[in-house]
Amino acid sequence: MLDLNQKLPNFPTIKTERLLLRKILPKDAEALFVVYSDPDVVAGHGRPPFQTVDQAQQLIEEFDQSFQEKKRIRWAITRQGEDKLLGTCGFHRIVPYHFRAEIGYDLASSEWRQGITSEAVRAIVQFGLAEIGFHRIEAIVDPDNAASAALLRKVGFTEEGFLRQRFYDNGRFVDDWFFSILKTEIDKVR
Ligand SMILES: CC(C)(COP(=O)(O)OP(=O)(O)OC[C@H]1O[C@@H](n2cnc3c(N)ncnc32)[C@H](O)[C@@H]1OP(=O)(O)O)[C@@H](O)C(=O)NCCC(=O)NCCS
Repeated sequence: MLDLNQKLPNFPTIKTERLLLRKILPKDAEALFVVYSDPDVVAGHGRPPFQTVDQAQQLIEEFDQSFQEKKRIRWAITRQGEDKLLGTCGFHRIVPYHFRAEIGYDLASSEWRQGITSEAVRAIVQFGLAEIGFHRIEAIVDPDNAASAALLRKVGFTEEGFLRQRFYDNGRFVDDWFFSILKTEIDKVR
């Protein structure tokens, strides 16, 4: 069984070529609100866009609490040298007994198509497999979300198939499209 208290005693900061992935802090509430109030970003979340900055503040507290409980880890995506939160990424639905987690990510729409999320996802997948010790990282995508599926393939995930009408979103049941990457495939991360 994975011992997350031992693997993640403190919140880890990760540097990539252009980015700094760091803990999400109360000062990020406005920037987080920009991301989660954008209907284009939250389409497929199964929840409506945020209406108030308070909701972002509340989410930041939840991120902090769930990291302390080692249930979830969510990084702020920032450019090195600029502290502004551009988006978030991380692991949730962590199951230590099965060495497994689900990955999630989102980015402010003003920043799309610059390779930012794939750079962040590549880094946290490597960290998750090599440092945290996950055996399997899975991603669940809305079948309408071609961008996310393409990103996962680009980074090295394998498509596994659809679970029928597993997700209720905005008045309709939609399939869940599963992707995964295994620890033995760490060399595929690119
Ligand atoms: C999905 C998302 C995170 C992509 O972020 P991004 O930083 O723009 O992605 P990248 O620039 O790293 O793109 C990586 C690859 O993804 C694919 N991709 C990204 N945006 C795409 C789009 N709009 N259409 C088609 N493919 C797209 C491309 O293959 C791209 O590689 P390329 O630029 O070499 O062609 C962003 O669109 C987003 O935040 N969407 C809403 C939230 C979301 O869907 N989260 C995931 C839920 S499963």
